[in-house]
Order: sequence, then C-alpha cells, then structure tokens
Amino acid sequence: MIALNAVVKRYPDGHEALRGVTLDIEDGEMVFITGRSGAGKSTLLRLMSGIERPTSGTISMHGRDITRLSSSALARLRRNIGLVFQDHQLLTDRNVEENAALPLRVAGLYGKELRQRVAIALEKVGLQGQAKASPLALSGGERQRLCIARAIVNRPRLVIADEPTGHLDKGYAHTILDIFKSFHSTGVTVIIAMHDTDSLPLPESRVLGLEDGLVGGDSEAESSEAM
Ligand SMILES: Nc1ncnc2c1ncn2[C@@H]1O[C@H](COP(=O)(O)OP(=O)(O)OP(=O)(O)O)[C@@H](O)[C@H]1O
Ligand SMILES: [Mg+2]
Repeated sequence: MIALNAVVKRYPDGHEALRGVTLDIEDGEMVFITGRSGAGKSTLLRLMSGIERPTSGTISMHGRDITRLSSSALARLRRNIGLVFQDHQLLTDRNVEENAALPLRVAGLYGKELRQRVAIALEKVGLQGQAKASPLALSGGERQRLCIARAIVNRPRLVIADEPTGHLDKGYAHTILDIFKSFHSTGVTVIIAMHDTDSLPLPESRVLGLEDGLVGGDSEAESSEAM
C-alpha cells in the first residue's frame, strides 16, 4: 500500500531528519514506528500523510507517487487518511459530537447519516455518554479518544497516529492501543509512532525502529530471516 524508496528529508536549516528510508507497508498491516526523541518518527508520518514533501526519494500509495501530486490533490489524499497527531486542536466552543463530526461536514455530509456516523465513531472509542460535553470537560485520555473518533468518523482505510498514548498512564495507553487494534481487525491499515516501547503489544505487531533518520530494525524482516 505504502512504499518508501530512499526517502530523504532535509529541513531548511540543513538538518537531515531522514537519511534514506526504504520500507513497504502492506494493506491491512498494523505497524509501530519506534525510536528515541529526534529519530525522525514524526517527520516520517508527516511525509506518509502528505503533510510535507521529501527532499528526495519516492513515496507511493497504491502505486501512485504522492510526492508528485499537486497541493490540492495532496489535500484530497489527506481527507482519506485518519490522522491522529498530538497537537491536533479540538474546538472548545463545540461539544464532543460536533468536534467528531467536523471531517464529515468538510465532506459535505449532514442530517441523519452524519448523526449516525458520529454516534458510531463515539461508541468505538467509548465516548457515547459524553457526546454533549465540552472537550474542556474531558480528561487527557478522553480528549485523545475524541481525536481518534474524529480521525475515523470518515471511515478511512488508513489511520496514522503520532504518539497517541503520549502523556497517558500505562493502563490507559493499553486502552488506546486496543481501540487501534479493533480498527486493524476490521482491515484498516494502522501506522503508529511511539517512543514508549514498553506499551507495545509485542510480539504480535510489526515494529520498525528508526535510528538517526534511518530504519535500524524491522521486526517482520528479522522474524522472516529467522525462519
Ligand atoms: N520543521 C523542522 N525544521 C527543522 N528541523 C526539524 C523540523 N522538524 C523536525 N526537525 C528535526 O528533525 C529531527 C527529527 O524530528 P522528529 O520530530 O521527526 O523526531 P521524532 O522521532 O518524532 O521525535 P520525538 O520522539 O521527540 O517526537 C529532529 O532533530 C528535529 O529537531
Ligand atoms: Mg515526534
């Protein structure tokens, strides 16, 4: 589904965040990107979601090189990806269900269908009881779940999340990961960056380790080599 070939990302200050990343992610996979702070995880996710472009190398999605798309085509692509980023802002003057409904409104949906889809998304993350609450009245973990509901309300086939368990205690991190696992079990491709490897649901998941802008390890490649 997603194939990166020799992807380099150099920021304008000359810093090379990615120094030649090559990897393949198949449809329906659940992949964790790990690595210490500054390893390039967020950069990699922004490139895969079309938020930024690489300096060189190719990124293809279903065989189409997204690095050559126009800005408007990239914007359309992004609408079909469920993005969960840590700095995603929730609108504090709208309630939980209105926040979760935003991507549907952008897509031009309204009425009963919109309400039903929002209700399903909130139920998937366990926030159905707080639909009318303000995001300000939610705990950090509940806000994170609202961001996940907003990301999946449009039923994307690909979900990309950057540190979705950051700042949450371990028990709660597992609750969040279980939500992603439930999407994965319905065939959705899930890519999650996480520096806290203690919370990883090992050994069943594929883990790509980034080290200084390069892929230093791929649990799947290693296990198939061992066979
Ligand atoms: N917009 C930017 N301009 C310049 N340098 C940047 C920019 N964004 C990231 N970097 C640098 O690129 C490197 C990789 O950053 P990135 O945010 O991808 O790391 P990360 O693995 O997500 O780290 P963390 O675990 O702290 O979130 C870092 O050295 C960072 O300082
Ligand atoms: Mg990061």
